[in-house]
Amino acid sequence: MIRRGREQVAAPAPVEGHHSLPRLLAGMDPGGAPMSLAEHERIHGPLPQPSPLELIEAVEMSGLRGRGGADFPTARKLRAVAAGRRPSAVVVNGSETEPASAKDRLLLSRLPHLVLDGAMLAAMAVGAREVVVKLGDGAVGSFDALEGAVAVRAADPVGIRLVTGPEGYVAGEESAVVHHLNGGAPLPTFVPPRPFERGYRGRPTLIQNPETLAQIALVARFGASWYRELGTRADPGSALVTISGAVSEPGVYELAFGTPMTDLLDAAGGSTEPLQALLVGGYFGTWVGSRRALGLRLAREDLRSVGCSLGSGVIIALGESSCGLHESAYVIDYLARQSAGQCGPCVFGLRAIADAVLAMADGVGGARERDRVLRWTSEVRGRGACHHPDGAVRFVESAMDVFGDEIEAHARVRCTAPPAGLPLDGGAPARPRRAGLRPGGRGAGRLRGAARR
Ligand SMILES: Cc1cc2nc3c(=O)[nH]c(=O)nc-3n(C[C@H](O)[C@H](O)[C@H](O)COP(=O)(O)O)c2cc1C
Ligand code: SF4
Repeated sequence: MIRRGREQVAAPAPVEGHHSLPRLLAGMDPGGAPMSLAEHERIHGPLPQPSPLELIEAVEMSGLRGRGGADFPTARKLRAVAAGRRPSAVVVNGSETEPASAKDRLLLSRLPHLVLDGAMLAAMAVGAREVVVKLGDGAVGSFDALEGAVAVRAADPVGIRLVTGPEGYVAGEESAVVHHLNGGAPLPTFVPPRPFERGYRGRPTLIQNPETLAQIALVARFGASWYRELGTRADPGSALVTISGAVSEPGVYELAFGTPMTDLLDAAGGSTEPLQALLVGGYFGTWVGSRRALGLRLAREDLRSVGCSLGSGVIIALGESSCGLHESAYVIDYLARQSAGQCGPCVFGLRAIADAVLAMADGVGGARERDRVLRWTSEVRGRGACHHPDGAVRFVESAMDVFGDEIEAHARVRCTAPPAGLPLDGGAPARPRRAGLRPGGRGAGRLRGAARR
């Protein structure tokens, strides 16, 4: 669900740059309408015309990194495609296949000109002849807003094409996007060649997330020093974060890097109950127990210190009334179902891991099952054509770490915690409904004690 964050309703900042938040979301219509070109230019100014070198250097100095999950330095990608054959292509990866993310749809449906400005600037920097925006089939609001925006952008030097496609989790992986745009199935392909070498129509292709391009649009206007006014030295600027779970106002929020996690939760209205963990980075992300998580900042160095990264900007708060083991089982089952069915370790390994975690959550198997799962995760890692299995096993390993103590309790006492409602296409697997006690979370000791009595 997309809700307006506190930062999103502030008055538009002057054209010389937004010296506080919101930056990307400045002037967004509270009523939900896409921003017109005139309003967009009033808030941000007209599309600048930097030389390719000027743009790439500004992006480099800004320290901008990709917001689609891989966290790759954007200037390095721009340089690689700019150095390749001409013409090249730019693809806006608006797939947003992470079910818990809503930021790309927010940008594309409400601020289409900001993303298209970034795509135009990138296209001019890398010598592209065409910009393709790839969306999921269900992204109707984004498609309509983009179609309206493209129709009024008569001055753009490069043509824009909108393409929709199936929405499975791996359909957003860059080689899957290219394969689909070239007429194939939306499945990852074995690389190399990588898209920047040979991608859309065989051309060197720059694939960027919509937020990355929106940030480029602002860096090109206001410069790298302005960009660095917010954030930390290592993590400059702001980010869009989709916050959901046990918070009062789930939604998309623009926050400066370096923001304490406690402030981040406050931005989403605060937690609705005591928290047991945060899932940082979405379903390829990492569970972090609440005591550690609440001491972190939204900064790469902090997140790395507990083995996680922001991924595509997703934070899910898990309340103590929920069961982390069951929620993790639902997610890994979902990820196993999302395997593209091409690589044995991914297809069979993720299925076996998911079945084992589902069984643990339902009280079958104990610590030995956990050891088996951890052995399988090490066997699956790095053995796929794409990073799907790597992300999935990272998630499972963190679940075993954070909720591992609950496995034995689940074997003793039937868990009756209600589903937390994490977004999963196709829903959570059916769960036997038998009377019992909830073994995990806060008060687990009490419940176990109650079970013994
Ligand atoms: C399984 C999988 C799914 C992905 N889905 C998306 C997606 O929906 N949107 C996206 O921008 N990047 C997604 N990515 C990352 C892309 O492959 C690619 O790194 C990204 O689009 C590059 O843009 P950026 O550098 O601006 O982040 C996915 C990666 C994997 C492994
Ligand atoms: S690793 Fe999995 S998702 Fe990726 S291409 Fe292979 S089977 Fe498909």
